[in-house]
Amino acid sequence: MASISADSLHLLTALLSISIPVIFTATVVEDLDNLQPPPDFNSTIINNCLRNPSLRYCNSTPFDLHQIFKSTIVASHLCNISSNPNCVESFPKIDLHSQPKIAPLYLSFTFFWKYCPLTILSIDLSNNSLKGNFPTDVFYCSQIQALDLSHNNLSGDLPIHNFSLLENLTFLNLSYNDFTECRISDSHFFERFNSTSFVRSGLVPNHKEFRIKAVLLLVGFPVLVLVMVVFWGWLCFFRRRNRHMFTPSILKAATDGFSVRNLVGRNGRASVYRGVLRDGSEVRVEIYLDTMSIENRRRFVEHCKILVQLQHKNIVPVLGWCDSRRLMAIVTEWVDGQNIETWLSTCNPPWKQRVQVILGIAAGVCYLHEEWPQVGYNLKTRNMMLSVDGEPLITRFKLLDDHHSSTKKTYEFGMFMLEIVTNRRAAKELEKSVDIVEWVKSNYPDNVENVIDKRMKKRVEIVSEAAEVLEFGLTCIDVSKSHQPSWDRICDLLSDISSTAISSASGDRKTSRVERGGRDRQHVHHRGVE
Ligand SMILES: *[C@@H]1O[C@H](CO)[C@@H](O)[C@H](O)[C@H]1NC(C)=O
Ligand SMILES: *[C@@H]1O[C@H](CO)[C@@H](O)[C@H](O)[C@H]1NC(C)=O
Ligand SMILES: *[C@@H]1O[C@H](CO)[C@@H](O)[C@H](O)[C@H]1NC(C)=O
Ligand SMILES: *[C@@H]1O[C@H](CO)[C@@H](O)[C@H](O)[C@H]1NC(C)=O
Ligand SMILES: *[C@@H]1O[C@H](CO)[C@@H](O)[C@H](O)[C@H]1NC(C)=O
Ligand SMILES: *[C@@H]1O[C@H](CO)[C@@H](O)[C@H](O)[C@H]1NC(C)=O
Ligand SMILES: *[C@@H]1O[C@H](CO)[C@@H](O)[C@H](O)[C@H]1NC(C)=O
Ligand SMILES: *[C@@H]1O[C@H](CO)[C@@H](O)[C@H](O)[C@H]1NC(C)=O
Repeated sequence: MASISADSLHLLTALLSISIPVIFTATVVEDLDNLQPPPDFNSTIINNCLRNPSLRYCNSTPFDLHQIFKSTIVASHLCNISSNPNCVESFPKIDLHSQPKIAPLYLSFTFFWKYCPLTILSIDLSNNSLKGNFPTDVFYCSQIQALDLSHNNLSGDLPIHNFSLLENLTFLNLSYNDFTECRISDSHFFERFNSTSFVRSGLVPNHKEFRIKAVLLLVGFPVLVLVMVVFWGWLCFFRRRNRHMFTPSILKAATDGFSVRNLVGRNGRASVYRGVLRDGSEVRVEIYLDTMSIENRRRFVEHCKILVQLQHKNIVPVLGWCDSRRLMAIVTEWVDGQNIETWLSTCNPPWKQRVQVILGIAAGVCYLHEEWPQVGYNLKTRNMMLSVDGEPLITRFKLLDDHHSSTKKTYEFGMFMLEIVTNRRAAKELEKSVDIVEWVKSNYPDNVENVIDKRMKKRVEIVSEAAEVLEFGLTCIDVSKSHQPSWDRICDLLSDISSTAISSASGDRKTSRVERGGRDRQHVHHRGVE
């Protein structure tokens, strides 16, 4: 049967800080099966714990005497086969390197690991073809300084959190295993060991790469946030830039579903609605009835993109456009007031006001001529407005009409001046308007009084000023070759008239308006000097 050896007694004394009589034989399994704890094992353990409370089994109450006893047997075997120099004195290492036959067996003795002797500082389980998950029982030996599990077939998640138990661990080798890659949140774990601890472990190819990954992630997240912020910023900016784009639904809402109540005008090509945007601002919505080709839509948008940039007190602010396939529209600020034709025919404005209107429109035209020569506009008195505060406004633009030659612009401006003086409508077509032109010509310069609006008082200075305007108008109308003045010259001339108006202007409002005209004039002159 079992024999008691003095050596084994000493061994266990060393291991468990006790003196227990233990029977020790060849194979561990046999011993585990056959050996029973001695009768006084109970009191022995208690005495040991009194002497050394840090012993692991002291924490297990009530004592599982059988398990504690079995663990001493395993310990003695392990110490022996691990080639510890003196198992009676110490048990510093578990060396199961390249012992694939017995290593799994020892790993299976959970009761041993639970009472892992405190003397063990190194565990080597390398090159044993160990399969399955990381052998977490080794964490019971929390005092170890070295752990080698390289060259096995361990797989699954590395229980990284448990490694914090091994606070004195300075050597770790998990190389050549099949672990699944670790989550980055445990990156500090990898900082304790360099890449040689994880060679082809499945964990992280190497420390540097891991650090790059960690850095990428640490940096990547803020960068992602930044990118998103920038993206949103861009979106907002984009939306701001495209605050000029109106959708059909916005316009529908603004005009009460394009209700007849809000329909304020209609011409061959467009319906004009008055609307109120959500922000409360009143707008004029001109909806084009023609269906446009893709090319025309593109050009329409190009034109509108320019129009929204126009900024002049005598040009109605263009707020934006709609270029949906089913609805093409241009949106301008709503102007309270009346069109200049109505104003002329119903108000019989005094001469000075007429001059102010000419100068205002001229200022707008000169601005367009100088800054936006590509913009076409409509100078018909019917299509220009006089706001309630007396400012004349160019309100209609020639979209999709690239053929607004300088000659035609000048002609239209000339006709506009004649109308202001005479209160006679020009015929619609350039060719058919010969009558008013001929009529003015026939009375100029000798009978200027005949053509001046009959309702106006015809003081001498008014007649002479009107004659100047008529002369200028006729010059503009003269499409025959080189007679027409250039726009640079027109703008200069008009600013001269403007200064005449300054000298004869009276009243606060007029003065302020003339001052503005004066600024425009300076601008014109400045250009003229260049
Ligand atoms: C061990 O000793 C304690 C007290 O010393 C006693 O209560 C317990 O029953 C004993 N257990 C065995 C299994 O002898
Ligand atoms: C293990 O112990 C036996 C005696 O029980 C001894 O003969 C043998 O040399 C020991 N082996 C090692 C590696 O220490
Ligand atoms: C692993 O163990 C085998 C025998 O089981 C041996 O031939 C081989 O050299 C060992 N490899 C390492 C790296 O220790
Ligand atoms: C680590 O070593 C220190 C000093 O040697 C020791 O006090 C501590 O208990 C050890 N930690 C563990 C978990 O054994
Ligand atoms: C164990 O891993 C080694 C490489 O480390 C491999 O050659 C072997 O096929 C694996 N064995 C099993 C059963 O997965
Ligand atoms: C390992 O950590 C898990 C929690 O992450 C814990 O439940 C388990 O008890 C630990 N194992 C050991 C042996 O300490
Ligand atoms: C990696 O760590 C081991 C000890 O764990 C050390 O021997 C080796 O020099 C280290 N290598 C590098 C590149 O730091
Ligand atoms: C771990 O083991 C592998 C393979 O045996 C070896 O290349 C590597 O250097 C070892 N790492 C350490 C830290 O000793």
